Amino acid sequence: MKVLNYGSLNIDITFEVPHIVVEGETLASSGMRKGSGGKGANQSAALGKAGVEVFHAGKIGKDGEFLVKELESYGVDTELVSYYDGPSGQAIIQVDDEGRNSIILLGGGNREIKKEEVDSVLKNFSKGDYLVLQNEINNLEYIINKAYSIGMKILFNPAPFDPSILSLPLDKISILVVNEIEGQGLAGIKSDDYEKIITAIKEKHPNSEIILTVGEKGSYYLDKELIHEDALPVKVVDTTGAGDTFIGYFLASRIKGLDARESLKKATKASSIAVSRSGAMKAIPTEKEVF
Ligand code: RIB
Repeated sequence: MKVLNYGSLNIDITFEVPHIVVEGETLASSGMRKGSGGKGANQSAALGKAGVEVFHAGKIGKDGEFLVKELESYGVDTELVSYYDGPSGQAIIQVDDEGRNSIILLGGGNREIKKEEVDSVLKNFSKGDYLVLQNEINNLEYIINKAYSIGMKILFNPAPFDPSILSLPLDKISILVVNEIEGQGLAGIKSDDYEKIITAIKEKHPNSEIILTVGEKGSYYLDKELIHEDALPVKVVDTTGAGDTFIGYFLASRIKGLDARESLKKATKASSIAVSRSGAMKAIPTEKEVF
């Protein structure tokens, strides 16, 4: 069984700010750093650091070569990452004193994926292999349909949420992982009653295992039974990539044979370590720290 992550690779430019800038405001930052990110690449890094063999597919420009090198240093196979004559994906991130963030994206290579490229990537995979997807690349509908027809099991993290997600063939998804915003969008309910949200998503997508992550309120899992896992108390430095860490470690735990409850616990531990450090990909803990 192989794991393919077809996902974004971003150059993260992070500004440390006292609060997230508001309309009309000019705000001085106390620091700026450049790092590796992208929801896709972060999830691959988490899988790699967790000790799972993972192939990352995506597209970058010359400016993104360091992203590939960093992924490789975590054991991720990057043979399926392609290059084009344009910029890599970029993320301008503000992180405030409480570790909260806000992110502006430029798609770059992430939005230049061609159907022929998808065909040639998916040729390397077969029935029973996992495919991990997020909503930062183009041609998602094509990728989902094609992977499903091969018999791959698809984990989809519809982040960032936009209404076009509702028209994707979500009945072909095996594991659907959402945060509060994405959960409300999929459920069509504006509420902080998380059991109500996850139940509404499950009713719409009965074939999928559903995971809802809600930051300091922990996480919920719903398939045959509803499981809730509390968040761990931790001093939050930077929440960027916390959800990606959770997803990578949840899937890694399942692949290692842990059940849903134990996998939620490992994913929670991994993401609480990640939020106690600054940065996205580099903040993700190693297998030794989590297992
Ligand atoms: O989930 C965090 C990630 O979202 C960042 O690394 C940024 O690149 C954006 O894709």
